[in-house]
Amino acid sequence: MRDTVTITDNRTGKTVEVPIDEGAIRATGLKELGLSSYDPAFLNTASVTSRITYIDGDAGILRYRGYPIEQLAEESTYLETAYLLIHGELPTQDELYGWTHEITHHTFLHENLKELMHGFRYDAHPMGMLVSAVAALSTFYPEASLVDDEATRMAQVVRLIAKVPTIAAFSYRHSRGLPYVYPDNELGFTENFLSMMFRIAEPRYRAEPELIRALDVLFILHADHEQNCSANVMRSIGSSKADPYSALAGAAAALYGPLHGGANEAVLKMLAEIGDVKRIPEFIARVKAGEGRLMGFGHRVYKNYDPRAKIIKQTADAVFEITGRNRLLDIALELEKIALEDEYFVTRKLYPNVDFYSGIIYQALGLPIAMFPVMFAIPRTAGWLAQWLEGVTDPEQKIARPRQVYVGAAERDYVGLGYRRTPGARSLATA
Ligand code: CMC
Repeated sequence: MRDTVTITDNRTGKTVEVPIDEGAIRATGLKELGLSSYDPAFLNTASVTSRITYIDGDAGILRYRGYPIEQLAEESTYLETAYLLIHGELPTQDELYGWTHEITHHTFLHENLKELMHGFRYDAHPMGMLVSAVAALSTFYPEASLVDDEATRMAQVVRLIAKVPTIAAFSYRHSRGLPYVYPDNELGFTENFLSMMFRIAEPRYRAEPELIRALDVLFILHADHEQNCSANVMRSIGSSKADPYSALAGAAAALYGPLHGGANEAVLKMLAEIGDVKRIPEFIARVKAGEGRLMGFGHRVYKNYDPRAKIIKQTADAVFEITGRNRLLDIALELEKIALEDEYFVTRKLYPNVDFYSGIIYQALGLPIAMFPVMFAIPRTAGWLAQWLEGVTDPEQKIARPRQVYVGAAERDYVGLGYRRTPGARSLATA
């Protein structure tokens, strides 16, 4: 038996034999038949080979560099996971020390960047500020354009992982009209972020260890998710050899959209709209009648369960022990219980996804809804950079340039302005 597939063009009888490699065939194999493949939204097209993140949607499996997400969420920290994503292996003690030191000492922003952030309107969306500020960083580090130089690449990786939380926190403080809080190098990555967000007049901000851990776990869970919309943008911009700040600004812009980083916000609005456990049956009936979706349920890839959702639910319990129970949690729990027993959701394999509980946790931490996509962008920075590094160092990759199936007008002659007609309208020449 050969590892090939044979394709016959039934119009001509011409046949090609295309090799199967790692469960995929090369679309260029169709060239011999004068054909290309058409796959809007990449539903069944791999654009890269990758060693970073593995997902098996049917089995509900997510692994970073081979390590199950459950073990990382239990045992690791966000910074260690970021190292794993970037370097491919868990760090030794010395490596982790060096990495933590490097990230900690690159968290400050150039004062001019702070001024740039000051320039935004008082009600600017923090995600718009983040996208703009990350793009602006490239002007502070012009050497970042040397993307073929390994040392230069790694210097920008450290800067981005370190500075994105600072930008994120500054964008929040700006929207609140509060003074920006500078990073505190004595604090760990996640506690420092909370300090930059919430410190007021105290000499040193200290968060509850359980809350720091909960946020760190959320960061681990959101750190990468293989070739999703924003990772694809990161790689695509990177393929033109643009600097990583510009590429990451593009990736963050992709995340901004409600179909990607905005679903947790939609969950929160939905729960608030339901308002009371008693109104759940009526809401479920409306969803089943096609009058809306149960937000935070369903996933393009996970058809069994989203492994991140299970962990997030436990994290939510830990957070509510400290912050007190969010009244929306009762609605969410009851909604989940009913949906998981309902034939409509069971037959369509609709399970809670990562966004079902993350918004409730962010809210319990005191974050406004507009900050939710920003909270996603902070840890995803490591994933985007891992994807970018893999892309720019892959000898098989070239500038991303999809083909198209042209379905527009055939060749036609130019018509002078006075002779043009729109259907149903009189031309200027005869008016
Ligand atoms: N509520 C009710 N019905 C649903 C839902 C839902 N949340 N999701 C899918 N369905 C139904 C859909 O109506 C369709 O039914 P039918 O076969 O009768 O027409 C069937 O299930 C298949 O749906 P689909 O739209 O073809 O599935 P998809 O794989 O294209 O969509 C999805 C995946 C995540 C966009 C969708 O499930 C959805 O809109 N969920 C709600 C939004 C949400 O929670 N998004 C966050 C995704 S996780 C974030 C991340 O990992 O990046």
